[in-house]
Parts: sequence; structure tokens; C-alpha cells
Amino acid sequence: MNILAIGDIVGNFGVDYASAKIKKVCGEHNIDFVIANGENSAVGNGITRETAQKIFNSGADVITLGNHAFSKKDVVNLLLNMSVIRPINYPERTVGEGCIIKEKKGKKIAVINAIGRLNLLNVDCPFKTVMRKIRQIKDECDIIIVDFHAEATSEKSALANYLDSYATVVYGTHTHVQTADERILPGGTGFITDIGMTGVTDSVLGVKKDIIIRRFMTQMPERFSLADGKCEMRGAVFKIDDKTNKCTEIVRIRE
Ligand SMILES: [Fe+2]
Ligand SMILES: [Fe+2]
Repeated sequence: MNILAIGDIVGNFGVDYASAKIKKVCGEHNIDFVIANGENSAVGNGITRETAQKIFNSGADVITLGNHAFSKKDVVNLLLNMSVIRPINYPERTVGEGCIIKEKKGKKIAVINAIGRLNLLNVDCPFKTVMRKIRQIKDECDIIIVDFHAEATSEKSALANYLDSYATVVYGTHTHVQTADERILPGGTGFITDIGMTGVTDSVLGVKKDIIIRRFMTQMPERFSLADGKCEMRGAVFKIDDKTNKCTEIVRIRE
């Protein structure tokens, strides 16, 4: 079983680019299951029905979100009716689910989305919340994949090590910068700190660079505007052994 995860898809350019590249990577790497982070797919952050539909049409099985989950009102309908999940450690009454279980090639695959608290959101403990969910579902699932949407490398590494042997794979999203630290942890969990972003390269994390430079130099707030130009798609392929259901290899994707 080969699982492809795509890093934060940013804006129209990112969505259109991902559509073409996901198909290419799926062919080249024999992909069975695709997870895409869509929290920045709409203009001005968030996700809309249109961007979600395009991401699903390009081959995604599940869309995960993050701190921008609720930036667009369409998301409520998507969370209730499509394979779109938001971080599981949002407060209890938040609409939608943070875990979804899907069947592919005779395997039951759970995808859990969680969000970090360091320099990000004041939400429930991701450690306790994710572990509680894994304990609930472990007997009915073959593979458990966690998209940890977090800012700090320390928090990501800590969660992955805490979940070592419980989760099949833990990968990070949110920073939009791919890290070169993919490895299999001692307990068998595959881990990479961040899989990167899918969007315009000549930008600051997908946003027009002059706006971000001005914000840093003046401390005056300014509305983000997405960059345009040449795109790149970042992500990772997780190879899972069909007999043991363990992650055996991680291949970073840069297309
Ligand atoms: Fe993002
Ligand atoms: Fe984010």
C-alpha cells in the first residue's frame, strides 16, 4: 500500500497545479490512497466547495485542514457531507470530525488530523486527544495516518515519538517548508516534520513576497494576496508493508 500525502495546497494556482501533478505522481509511485491538505486552497485561506471538488477530482481520498479550517463558510457543508476532516483537538462542539476511516484495497485506513498549540491555537491537548482516538479505533483499522498541522518542529517531533508504534505514519503540515528528516522511528512509525506546500515558488509561503516583507518591516497589518507564477508540489509517499501494515519507506515528493 502506497499512500501519498500532499502539503498545504495554496490558492487557485496550487489547486490547478496539484490536479495535474497528483495524477502524475500516482502513476509513477503506484499510489493507492491520497491525502491532501486543503486549508489554504481558497483565495484568502480556507476551503470552498469548488476547491474541495477540484482536489477530490484530482484523486484525493481525504482532505485535511488546519488553523484556517473555518475561514470560509462552505466548510460546514464539506465537513458534514464529504471526506473532509478538521483538527480533532478543536473544542468538543466544533462542527465536523477529526478522524475518518476509509477502505482501500482491502485495508481500513484511518486518517486523523490534529493541530499544534505552540504559536498556533488554544485548543485541546493534541497528544491526549489523538491517543484517545487511536485507542478507540485501533482494533478496526489496519493503517493509521496522522496529519499534524503545527508550527513548531519540537511539538511535531514530540507528538510523533509519543505516537510511535501506535500510528503507522505521522507527518507535519502548516509551515509550508518541506523538511529533509524523514525516518522510521524505533517503534515503527514513519515520521517527517513537514511535507511542505503546493503553490507558487517565488513567494513567501505562497503569498506575494512584497506584502510579507512590508509587514515584517513596518508591523502594519496588510491583507494577504496570493503570489502567481510557477508552482511546485510538495508531499511525501509512505510505503506500507501489506503484511505488517508498517511504514517501511518514506519518499519526499518535489514536483
Ligand atoms: Fe497552510
Ligand atoms: Fe496552517
